[in-house]
Amino acid sequence: MEDLSPRPGDLEPIEIASRDEISALQFHRLKRSLKHAYENSAFYRKRFDDHGVHPDDLTTLADLAKFPFTTKTDLRDTYPFGMFAVPQNQLVRIHGSSGTTGKPTVVGYTKHDIDVWANMVARSIRAAGGRAGDIVHVAYGYGLFTGGLGAHYGAERLGCTVVPISGGMTERQVTLMQDFKPRIIMVTPSYMLSILDEFRRQGIDPRESSLAVGIFGAEPWTNAMRAEIEQAFDMHAVDIYGLSEVMGPGVASECVETKDGLHIWEDHFYPEIIDPVTGAVLPDGEMGELVFTTLTKEGLPMVRYRTRDLTRLLPGTARAMRRIEKITGRSDDMIILRGVNVFPTQIEEQILKCKGLAPHFQIELGRAGRMDNMTVHVECTPDGADEADRARSAKELAHHIKSIVGVSTRIEVRDPNGLARSEGKAKRVVDNRPKE
Ligand code: DLL
Repeated sequence: MEDLSPRPGDLEPIEIASRDEISALQFHRLKRSLKHAYENSAFYRKRFDDHGVHPDDLTTLADLAKFPFTTKTDLRDTYPFGMFAVPQNQLVRIHGSSGTTGKPTVVGYTKHDIDVWANMVARSIRAAGGRAGDIVHVAYGYGLFTGGLGAHYGAERLGCTVVPISGGMTERQVTLMQDFKPRIIMVTPSYMLSILDEFRRQGIDPRESSLAVGIFGAEPWTNAMRAEIEQAFDMHAVDIYGLSEVMGPGVASECVETKDGLHIWEDHFYPEIIDPVTGAVLPDGEMGELVFTTLTKEGLPMVRYRTRDLTRLLPGTARAMRRIEKITGRSDDMIILRGVNVFPTQIEEQILKCKGLAPHFQIELGRAGRMDNMTVHVECTPDGADEADRARSAKELAHHIKSIVGVSTRIEVRDPNGLARSEGKAKRVVDNRPKE
């Protein structure tokens, strides 16, 4: 694969700034942002007053811990526009996240917010090895979801040629890739696997495709999956993270030269890791829930937003800004099976170790009597389809899951294409346990 390390002069000054310079900028911006939220959003004014804090109480960055958290419930309770800090006529765009239950949460952007967002995605694409002139195939969904339009504006900002194909119609995706020869693809990792299958179905060697870099995010994926995709396409695969409540894609992104976790664009987002139970701020390096405070957002400033994503903060490497480790999963997606915590990413890692199994999987939870049980549905590879091979793969996977993750599971090996394909975020867990 091509060496895509940045050349001298490629990086913005903030990407090579000292820790002190970054902290000073953050403090200045944080003060301004808290004041903006307090003065212009009735929601934040009441929340701060009820909590007995005022923006003037921030005298160091650590003082942020005195301020109350914001959660998804707050967005739902103020649906649709109740948390905004500018009048609606100053918003140029609305996005929303579907969520799994109830009303969507709505987020809004001013012209300046869209501008910052485009810059952050452009920075992320550059970190991934993209440059002006590249053709970028955007297969994240367009619409209320932030993936498609977020990637689109960022790629244009960098000076790329965007193919706004969105998700779905996989056969056409592959045809257009063969015709337009994109150097970069932006898509969920699970949909990339569907695209991979389609290359093979059409008899095209994916390693001969024009793709040099894939920028994958919107759902958890593992380093094992990275290796699988890189090997299949002979391309670089890097991780991009974000969430609509904080902005969209481009809150943090991986650098192609290191692939060692995602640098948070700390000039716009201030991260904390907290203990998900007590809410206490944890030191860098400890695993916990990621919390973000926006430093420059106008339309919908977020103060200590609890993402529910579990990870840890690490020092900067390829860039000055701190990194997050690849997200283990959301606390909402954690399965507690007979007292053991299990994340779908742990199952993904074990599947990728087993010869004869393809990384298409779904976890089903059930209950027999008072005991919960878990079945992993996974596809075999097209060449591993005979009964004996399947039984061997199932046994191997059950063994890895038992010895490494610590739970007993039933394994159901399906035919190739036997599981529903995702065109966006994959649904990894189906919970059939009776509701209590
Ligand atoms: O998924 C924004 C996005 C689009 C990010 C495209 C990257 C690429 P939401 O729909 O609001 O926004 O979902 C946000 O998705 O809290 C995480 O749980 C999960 N997520 C996003 N990126 C990653 C990632 C977009 N790289 C939620 N790794 C977040 C793991 C991710 N989980």
